[in-house]
Amino acid sequence: MTVNIDKCRVLVVDDEPEMCKGVQKILRNFDVFVQDASSRVTYEVDTATSKNEFFEAFTSKNYDLILLDYKMPEVSGLELLEYIVAQKKNTLVIMITAYATFETAVESTKLGAYDFLAKPFTPDEIRNAVKKATNHFVLTRRAQEFEEQRKKLRFQFISVLSHELKAPLNAVEGYLDILDNRFNNISPEDFHMMVNRSKIRIEGMRKLIFDLLDLTRIESGEKKRKLENVDIKQMAQFSADLFAEDAAKRNISIELDIERAGEFCVDKSELEIIFNNLISNAIKYNRDNGRVKVKIKSYGNKLRIIVADTGIGISESDKSRLFKEFSRIKNEKTIHILGSGLGLSTINKIAKLYNGNIKVKSKPDVGTAFVVTLFA
Ligand SMILES: Nc1ncnc2c1ncn2[C@@H]1O[C@H](COP(=O)(O)OP(=O)(O)OP(=O)(O)O)[C@@H](O)[C@H]1O
Ligand SMILES: [Mg+2]
Repeated sequence: MTVNIDKCRVLVVDDEPEMCKGVQKILRNFDVFVQDASSRVTYEVDTATSKNEFFEAFTSKNYDLILLDYKMPEVSGLELLEYIVAQKKNTLVIMITAYATFETAVESTKLGAYDFLAKPFTPDEIRNAVKKATNHFVLTRRAQEFEEQRKKLRFQFISVLSHELKAPLNAVEGYLDILDNRFNNISPEDFHMMVNRSKIRIEGMRKLIFDLLDLTRIESGEKKRKLENVDIKQMAQFSADLFAEDAAKRNISIELDIERAGEFCVDKSELEIIFNNLISNAIKYNRDNGRVKVKIKSYGNKLRIIVADTGIGISESDKSRLFKEFSRIKNEKTIHILGSGLGLSTINKIAKLYNGNIKVKSKPDVGTAFVVTLFA
């Protein structure tokens, strides 16, 4: 388990310098472990003994926690509390007072104080109050970081997606413009070429949209899963047949080695996505006259699918990013191959649903084998 280190910036506001120093001393070597965030928190304590010192400190630094005296000579602690809360800096305030009454506690809490501590207090009392506030601020900080990360990922996802959709749209629009502007002097061959290329790009967009739907359904848990005993051999054969024409066009053979696979408990559509993506990749990224071998083994509750090809291979440095969404390896060998880069990331997510995984072995210009392991 990795332990995060957080620093809690504390400001002690009290007109008695001794009081400030005392708290500073108590917190100097204090640390708190927040179990739920796996975080060790240490304290950095500043002090302010007047209104001016408070404003100077507060405007120059973001404090996580302020220990605030209820009664200051030039300004009331409640006024400062109101000011701190209004700045919306997520600062927690613990009010400290020598005149602890029920009313003052209620008043401070209403104005937004997090907690309340009566003077005089023991070192343990202040440590406990700080510990409680620390738990709160660390968990809030984690939730904010998580939300920021989520927004960032969503933004990245949508940026890449729009880019992937814009490219084929531009291509189709370009062909339509040519057909429109040069309608009278276009040869039938060029006409067909442009219409066919447009259709291919539209088909690509359709596939992207369907892949995206698969991915988001799986990820969100929206998709209703139906686990049933499925004839693995039949499913693999079905997938191989689906791509037989593409393979035949480039004289690529598909060999199935599924002697030891019987029935296995899976969701049919998920297994279909695995087979279709792996076999389609093994053909797309193969060489002409190459081979594809689909090997399936099942032992007990474990199913292993290996799809190996004799294709262009994947370099060591590219392997690590294969399973990320929209990840495509762009080089002179792949430049003319269409795809949206969602296939492998979808398989990765499906494998996790079965507590399994996907691994790759590959050698550039020799071939690639993807190994998917699922547990029923
Ligand atoms: N068998 C393979 N041999 C070599 N490279 C491969 C192979 N399979 C995948 N890759 C590389 O990994 C990338 C990601 O594959 P993935 O299946 O996720 O997307 P894709 O095939 O590009 O598009 P699609 O979403 O249509 O499947 C591919 O673009 C390709 O560069
Ligand atoms: Mg693919």
